[in-house]
Amino acid sequence: MKGIGVVWGILMATMVGGCDTAGLGASTGATCPTDNVLTWAEFGQGFMQTYCVECHGSYNTQSRVVRDKTQIDQAAGAGDTVTNTYMPESGKKPSLEERKLLSQWLACGAP
Ligand code: HEC
Repeated sequence: MKGIGVVWGILMATMVGGCDTAGLGASTGATCPTDNVLTWAEFGQGFMQTYCVECHGSYNTQSRVVRDKTQIDQAAGAGDTVTNTYMPESGKKPSLEERKLLSQWLACGAP
């Protein structure tokens, strides 16, 4: 019985340890393009609605996305050398091109 207790303890510790932001990747280092800056209405809102709001209801508001922009870049964005695919956890996935646009838009401050 003692053995089971130890195994259970290790299992629980692993699960709790895996439930933080450990899944976030690196910052993509994307920069804001000087031409053709996307906006919430043109891009951000639709992206969030399609890929994120189902699980993160608060991402239907721009102010909330602006506040979380660093983490969103690290969860779902892409740049020249970094592609973060931690999110969406499941369901419909954005293309690489969409992930790049997301990171550029976030780098502009998610206007
Ligand atoms: C199918 C549900 C689901 C979808 C869709 C989804 N997420 Fe998540 N997301 C989660 C869950 C669950 C967690 C918590 C994971 C954990 O703690 O282990 C999470 C965690 C995160 C985190 C880390 C937050 C933190 O501080 O711990 C970010 C950032 C995030 N998601 C962004 C996004 C973005 C951006 C999208 C859309 C591209 C998205 N998620 C789509 C379920 C989802």
